[in-house]
Amino acid sequence: SAVELGPYPHFMAKEIFEQPQAVRQALAGRVEPGSGRVDLGETGLDPATLRSFQRYAIVACGTAWHAGLVGRHLLQRATGRPVSVEVASEFRYGDPMVDAGTLTVAISQSGETADTLAAVREARRRGSPVLAIVNVEGSSLSREADWVLYTRAGPEVAVASTKAYLTQVVALHLLAAWAAPTGAEATGLQLLQLPSRLEATLGLDPAVQELARELAGSEHLFYVGRGLDYAVALEAALKIKEISYVHAEAYAAGELKHGTLALIEPGRWVVALATQRALLAKTAGNVAEVRARGAQVVVVGPGASPGRAELEPMADRYLPLPEAPEPLLPVLAVVPMQLLAYHAARARGCDVDRPRNLAKSVTVE
Ligand code: G6P
Repeated sequence: SAVELGPYPHFMAKEIFEQPQAVRQALAGRVEPGSGRVDLGETGLDPATLRSFQRYAIVACGTAWHAGLVGRHLLQRATGRPVSVEVASEFRYGDPMVDAGTLTVAISQSGETADTLAAVREARRRGSPVLAIVNVEGSSLSREADWVLYTRAGPEVAVASTKAYLTQVVALHLLAAWAAPTGAEATGLQLLQLPSRLEATLGLDPAVQELARELAGSEHLFYVGRGLDYAVALEAALKIKEISYVHAEAYAAGELKHGTLALIEPGRWVVALATQRALLAKTAGNVAEVRARGAQVVVVGPGASPGRAELEPMADRYLPLPEAPEPLLPVLAVVPMQLLAYHAARARGCDVDRPRNLAKSVTVE
């Protein structure tokens, strides 16, 4: 049956606000309430097999590739093995180093993206088994993979991916926890808090809407972050490019001085993602650098201190995330970025759900 809009003006808004529920579905039966025990046995894999690989190769396109960048951090930390992540459309051209000792992890909402399917076929040709993280059941990718971890986001209609991305990130958190020799329960318990923390994060909507009105007139935006926040910055920039046609660039904050800083001039807006307390001082330094050149800075950071007390006074606008375990903060930070793209697109009179030149699923290479 057709997916209904309900009270929402656009599918994108509906899908953003559905995220707490989508994550609840993604966790159901996979994390035991109470103990936090993680079990992905439904995939047909087992933790010993998952841990037996010498390396992991993540392939995906677009937003799913951004989820893959988060996944690399998580999986590498959990397994202590090298994890590569590559856009599927480039994978085949680099003589990919995958073999029977490599687990290829393909991430896709639709399971029909031509380049992702081609990358998977190439990986299999080289003897690498494939785990698919996919939303659409029965899709080509789900049929071609050795194992499937469904994201359970439900149907996503808007071209710009929101809840599919978020559930991909959740699936990768689950996979990393399951692969880790210890500590899975602690991660499981944290993940169980995610739906309520996402609900609290959606409370930022009025503040973000106001901010979007201020930013909507800019033709250039810069997003910066370090570590996991850099992955969020890339996703935030893609979201606003896709639907509001604003030129946006994401930079690893430490790379600013290697080029982008030349583009900073009075009045430019910079959005800094700063959720990781260990990186606080460095990110604060980057915020000071761009402000000294006249930029106006939005900081997305912790709702509590340490973090807030240091960052808020430096920011022209501060978006405080709800209190949550630190590993969840980058997951929460994407929500105000989705909302910013959404409200900016509306303010600019763009067709939010059907942006020009783009398709929901790209089935040609
Ligand atoms: C298209 C969509 C993007 C999506 C990408 C990969 O470009 O517009 O939103 O991220 O394809 O799609 P997939 O279905 O493989 O996740």
